[in-house]
Amino acid sequence: MRVVLLGGAGYIGSVATDRLVRQGHDVTVVDGLIYNRNDDPGELLPAAAKFVQGDLRDPVVLGEVSAGADVVVHLGGLVGEPACATDERLAVELNYAAPILAADSAVQADVGRFVFFSSCSVYGRHEGTVDEDTPANPLGIYARTKVLAERRLPEVLGSIPTTILRLATVHGLSPRQRLDSVVNRMTSRAVADGRIPLNGGGQRRPLVHVNDVVQVLAKALTMTGDHVWNVGSDQENHTIGDIAKTVEDVVSLAVIDYGPELDEADARDYRVSFARLREAMPEVCSTTLKQGIQEIATVVAEGIVKDPQDPQYDNHAGLRLAIASDRVAVLGSQDCKRLHAEYVGVFGDAR
Ligand SMILES: NC(=O)c1ccc[n+]([C@@H]2O[C@H](COP(=O)([O-])OP(=O)(O)OC[C@H]3O[C@@H](n4cnc5c(N)ncnc54)[C@H](O)[C@@H]3O)[C@@H](O)[C@H]2O)c1
Repeated sequence: MRVVLLGGAGYIGSVATDRLVRQGHDVTVVDGLIYNRNDDPGELLPAAAKFVQGDLRDPVVLGEVSAGADVVVHLGGLVGEPACATDERLAVELNYAAPILAADSAVQADVGRFVFFSSCSVYGRHEGTVDEDTPANPLGIYARTKVLAERRLPEVLGSIPTTILRLATVHGLSPRQRLDSVVNRMTSRAVADGRIPLNGGGQRRPLVHVNDVVQVLAKALTMTGDHVWNVGSDQENHTIGDIAKTVEDVVSLAVIDYGPELDEADARDYRVSFARLREAMPEVCSTTLKQGIQEIATVVAEGIVKDPQDPQYDNHAGLRLAIASDRVAVLGSQDCKRLHAEYVGVFGDAR
């Protein structure tokens, strides 16, 4: 199968590229390598993958790579509220305009399937357990861009089969390592300086291992019809406090460092049902939180990751550097302006 991974040199994308190439797919990765870390695609990606350095808001690049593709997968964008809050207009261009432009190109090229990476962040804060039919409750810019993209993509894609993957918070190892999400951050800090930073602790957060996400993607490529799936497993619904305690159990000598009761920057709190995915793919998402913690603890303990606080591991800090060095900026093309206006029409004026 000819598969195009838009944003395929990132944390999840580089693991996905490796797996799909090993499965015999013809993989093309498009990525702007927007984070300021001198990434070498030759080290991040297997030699058999084609790499195109380009901007996912560029319709010419999107048109070229979509021609002849069986599947286009969009996993680019800014991840998480802190990165998106850095520049709302940029976040709207990368997280809303880019996937819509990719869908336009997919329609013109008549591709066989479009896969969009969304997030359980669309649920925001909810009592009880949420599933794919629960109304969205976006609490910030990141979640709003995902909600709007999910809503508009099927309209743009028309008869092209569409898969929407709403990921739980991802943990585990990748060639393009991130340490800024909860499990990876707590574990790397526990090993590096013996403390596990914890704000609040009561918020519920589902988790999924990066290899399991990629296994779901690989299976989704060949399934017929339209799908929206929460990606994770019911067993991996945790609270932030449980995650910290599990890190404390695995990393000997590390202790929890209790901070302010509620993390105002990230008020997400939800328990997610993964029953729909389990029915479609019964054997996926079996990696445990403990396994992910052990992986991260090992690379920090062995010095493969030298300084977990280096901005290269943190999308928010990396984005600030990328903006300061003009590696990424608001484009303001006619398409971006039009799609930004759609976002403003739904959610109000961006700063
Ligand atoms: N990691 C998680 O915990 C998580 C959870 C839920 C959803 N997701 C979703 O999964 C997807 C992948 O996440 P990730 O953790 O791999 O993120 P990542 O930041 O590691 O990767 C994103 C990649 O997209 C590229 N990119 C972004 N905008 C671009 C543009 N305009 N042009 C060219 N390249 C561009 C970046 O260079 C980067 O390599 C995202 O859509 C994210 O919202 C991730």
